[in-house]
Amino acid sequence: QKKSKDNLRCPVVCVLGHVDTGKTKILDKIRRTNVQDGEAGGITQQIGASFFPIDAITEKTRPVMELHKVEYNVPGLLIIDTPGHESFTNLRTRGSSLCDLAVLVVDIMHGLEPQTIESIGLLKKRRAPFVIALNKIDRLYGWEPHPELPVQQALEMQADSVKAEFQQRYDFAVRQLQEQGLNACVFYENQDVRTFLNVVPTSAISGDGMMDLLFLLSTLPAKMLIDKIMYHENLECTVLEVKAIEGLGTTMDVIVVNGKLKEKQKIVVCGLEGPIVTQIRSLLTPQPMKEMRVKTPYIHHQEIKGAIGVKICANGIERALAGSNLYVVGEDDDEEELKDEVMKDLGGILKKVKKNEDGVYVQASTLGSLEALLEFLERPGEDRDGNPNPPIPVSGIGIGPVSKYDVMRCGVMLEREREWEAYACILAFDVPVLPDAERSAKEIGIPIYTAEIIYHLFDAFTKRVADIKA
Ligand code: GTP
Ligand code: MG
Ligand code: NA
Repeated sequence: QKKSKDNLRCPVVCVLGHVDTGKTKILDKIRRTNVQDGEAGGITQQIGASFFPIDAITEKTRPVMELHKVEYNVPGLLIIDTPGHESFTNLRTRGSSLCDLAVLVVDIMHGLEPQTIESIGLLKKRRAPFVIALNKIDRLYGWEPHPELPVQQALEMQADSVKAEFQQRYDFAVRQLQEQGLNACVFYENQDVRTFLNVVPTSAISGDGMMDLLFLLSTLPAKMLIDKIMYHENLECTVLEVKAIEGLGTTMDVIVVNGKLKEKQKIVVCGLEGPIVTQIRSLLTPQPMKEMRVKTPYIHHQEIKGAIGVKICANGIERALAGSNLYVVGEDDDEEELKDEVMKDLGGILKKVKKNEDGVYVQASTLGSLEALLEFLERPGEDRDGNPNPPIPVSGIGIGPVSKYDVMRCGVMLEREREWEAYACILAFDVPVLPDAERSAKEIGIPIYTAEIIYHLFDAFTKRVADIKA
């Protein structure tokens, strides 16, 4: 089958930006969901993907389609939400490495912030086109919401003082972007999308600009990336997260950009102890406009086609690594070759998991969150006076619920010198502790600190050190 303009796949769109600029809230507003309210501390700590079918997009964007007299030719959008918190550089990198196109969310009240600039760097490296959502315009003093109108018209309806404040903050953001070597222009005045980045004023609270953002994401790929989004059959599939789900066992959330996956197919992914060869037991997706991270009734598929986010159930994938490529072993394929190929990815990850002799034991739900935790413990931010906090060395790692096995492995620290006493503990991020692990931890005297927010683990450990010294 030849690639053609008549057979496009969904563009993969990644949402990037500084913490709390409103990335998740924008997606919530479009999906009519409430993912952000359910996040611990309101902070995104995982990557999530949602599928937006073109019918739903068309319905939500009719006024702006009529204004610009444009029709869509993509079958929908696959949108990936990423965390903005500084410790999740790895997830931002993974998200941006998958995307065809990105939305960089900037808080209009704050302008560019550190992770905005980091994200610009990632996107430049990828040469991925992106649009800027200048979000929180409802916070302009006196803003009157008009989510039913294209944002250009909503702006025209505002009082002069609101228009003036918008212009001043918009000009400021544009100047800041210029300092990053980027030309930007509000999208409805942009005559040259190859020279000027499109800026869309948005509010995830009032809904202003939501249709304009969807409109841009659905029309830009055909203008800028048509060759890239022509569907082809060569499988391009990446593991986003590996996690245990009640009633399903261990599952892998994957993004299939091109090609197909079918039930019963034999697949290869990268594992901590070596390549994992297994069979697809089932292929599940959330309902359209829902997110994979949230519990919704799943749809079962016998076959799926990129671009799509899908949950794979299979045996023996407990130790599979997020970030790994996934290959299908077809009749004509050399399984050994694919096993070698898939393990190439591990190099960089293992470097991070480099073990110290003396250090705490850390445990996380997924490799993605483990990477984030390790990265944070290496550079745990600054104290109140702006001095860098000391790193916390890590001597052992685990993924998934804390088990007795993890406690035993951590227990080794108890046999080392007194000065390392503080390290004999487990920092468990976003994972439950199994009852027998809890019992044996009490017996041998290993505290297990659990938290849903990474830096709470740092606080717990810091307090432990202080208590031991006192
Ligand atoms: P991280 O994923 O943690 O990086 O944050 P985020 O970029 O996903 O931001 P999130 O959606 O968590 O929103 C952060 C806060 O800003 C929440 O309190 C939101 O209610 C608020 N917020 C988001 N968008 C808007 C907006 O357009 N207007 C106003 N007034 N508040 C907003
Ligand atoms: Mg978020
Ligand atoms: Na947030």
